[in-house]
Amino acid sequence: MIDFDNLEGYRDTVAYDSLNKLKEIEERFFVDLAQRSGGPILDIACGTGRLTIPLAKQGYEMTGVDIIPETLEAAKKKALNAGVAVRWIQADVRQLELQRRYKMIFTTGNSFQHFLDRESQEGLLRTVYNHLEDDGVFTFETRNPILSRLAEDNEIVKDAGTYVDKDGNNVKSTYKRSYDHKNHLEYYTFTNRLWKEDESDAVEVEEPFVLRYFFPQELESFLYYNGFTLEQVFGNFDKSSFQADSPLIVCVCRKRSL
Ligand SMILES: C[S@@+](CC[C@H](N)C(=O)[O-])C[C@H]1O[C@@H](n2cnc3c(N)ncnc32)[C@H](O)[C@@H]1O
Repeated sequence: MIDFDNLEGYRDTVAYDSLNKLKEIEERFFVDLAQRSGGPILDIACGTGRLTIPLAKQGYEMTGVDIIPETLEAAKKKALNAGVAVRWIQADVRQLELQRRYKMIFTTGNSFQHFLDRESQEGLLRTVYNHLEDDGVFTFETRNPILSRLAEDNEIVKDAGTYVDKDGNNVKSTYKRSYDHKNHLEYYTFTNRLWKEDESDAVEVEEPFVLRYFFPQELESFLYYNGFTLEQVFGNFDKSSFQADSPLIVCVCRKRSL
């Protein structure tokens, strides 16, 4: 099982939240699905509760699971401020056993791409299968592996934006990336320049990050052999049909009878 040495960046929840605002089409997609499936709902790899909290505000009984304690600390504070109750669990979802089932399970923010090898991916899907009601729905998205994009700009330094981190440092971030076609893995190295008052005092910190890509037919087979059928596939959260150049593969799955 490839271990998780690529998740360090998620410990800075201030940076994560400032760089990853919830978009209206994302929220509408998940609220629509929740209205059709009902609760309770399990948010796998929930992070700081970007979707968990808005769904709790809609009145759904929510459970959020994440492996990184800092994300759950931030999520708890946000839920308290929003006046909603959520069950937060710190766990590796590949080995989760909650002894209960959910009407809807989702994982978003492209978290699906953090499960890098077959053992990890099967661990994730086993957890979903064991916790999903027989008539429940499982949904997730993963970036569309457009080969021309994956192959371009390898090892070229690019701008990744500026932000203020959890310690109040100004951060200028750049990245280099490359794609390993054999393993469908995209490797990033972020270089973050950190300073408080004077940029000439900046220190540089490197941060690795890895994403697994799934090709559409591979995804369909992989879901099938792990107990799911793909009921709907969209190219984005606006429910546009999936095309070769769609940004995302948004999957709505059901358990299949084994
Ligand atoms: C891109 S963030 C998405 C967070 C949230 N779902 C969102 O949409 O903002 C990916 C999250 O996956 C979590 N994660 C990765 N591997 C995990 C695992 N094995 N078990 C639980 N959480 C995991 C990370 O800690 C991180 O919070």
